Amino acid sequence: MQTQIYTYDTLYQAAKTLQEGGLVAFPTETVYGLGAMANNSEAVGKVFKAKGRPQDNPLIVHLAKPEDAKLVASSVSAMAERLMEAFWPGPLTIILPVKPGAVSDKVTGGLDSVALRMPRQLETLLLIEMAGFPLVGPSANLSGKPSPTKVEHVLHDFTNLIDGVVAAREELTEIGVESTVIRPSERQIEILRPGAITQSMLEAVVDVPVIERTAQEQVTSGQIISPGVKYRHYAPKQPVYQVAAQHTLDDWCEIIAELQAKGEVIGLLADDIIIEQLASQAGIKACYSLGAANSPSQASQRLYAGLRALEEQPITLILAQGMPFEEAYQAYENRLAKASYRVI
Ligand code: TXA
Ligand code: MG
Repeated sequence: MQTQIYTYDTLYQAAKTLQEGGLVAFPTETVYGLGAMANNSEAVGKVFKAKGRPQDNPLIVHLAKPEDAKLVASSVSAMAERLMEAFWPGPLTIILPVKPGAVSDKVTGGLDSVALRMPRQLETLLLIEMAGFPLVGPSANLSGKPSPTKVEHVLHDFTNLIDGVVAAREELTEIGVESTVIRPSERQIEILRPGAITQSMLEAVVDVPVIERTAQEQVTSGQIISPGVKYRHYAPKQPVYQVAAQHTLDDWCEIIAELQAKGEVIGLLADDIIIEQLASQAGIKACYSLGAANSPSQASQRLYAGLRALEEQPITLILAQGMPFEEAYQAYENRLAKASYRVI
């Protein structure tokens, strides 16, 4: 199979491929998704197979417009409607009761709920509309690898394994980490996966408590609500060590010297200031910038691209910058923790 690259001008071909049961990856404001018609069981099965994804990890269904939630959810509460109005199109995934028979059982992994999101990317909204039914879209990476934020990442993992990919006009997707996943009820909203829509942003539009059900908490309590949280993720070939936020530049130098003494060849993933100071040090073989210091949005946008770029370098270890415990860095920290072997 030859993987086609589609653009805005050839979206109709991409839509036809989807209607015929093919797999077409698409850009979103978070990361690229691996698209298939959500009502085509065979096509959804191919998505799991292509990614090497565990069958019990359900998929997000992507909508072209909020009204289409009714196509797949059995009921849309007033609370859910308020959230859609406030945050769609955008990086918020909302879990609702699934409408029996509306989507392939493989989409929900046997749960009685379905995860819905309306992305904020013009090409993709048009693609879904043209395809004629909502699309599943897990991140378009091989299971366990960093999620794709560039069309090249999708091609790296899936060339000749999927039918096509729609290339975004932007070089890098805007947000760079996956959507916030929430489960709303009349009493509370639970955050199952942190993302660009934060707890305080949610609190600003609803009058019920917004509770974090972090991955850590779901795993240790044995109450897995969102099956994705229990799998290791985003990991490049080399081990990643996270350098905690409180370390000074002198500490970085010491850490690097100690690791080099053990024979490690180091690549750096850090902000401009750290890279500027350390890149010329003997033995630093590769660097990738997370952008300006104190910019959560730039760090999030560049995290996966950095992990993927460094993975290709002749290094044995990636040292990645840990960020302060601030809400705006929460999604970055959550993903980096899943990619990391340890925190220094
Ligand atoms: O930003 C995103 O959300 C990207 C783009 C492509 O839209 N998609 C994405 O999909 O990250 P994926 O499949 O990599 O992650 C979906 C997450 C998983 O953690 C999964 O367990 C959870 O959503 N999920 C899906 N359906 C669920 C459900 N019914 N109940 C609880 N969690 C669910
Ligand atoms: Mg994923």
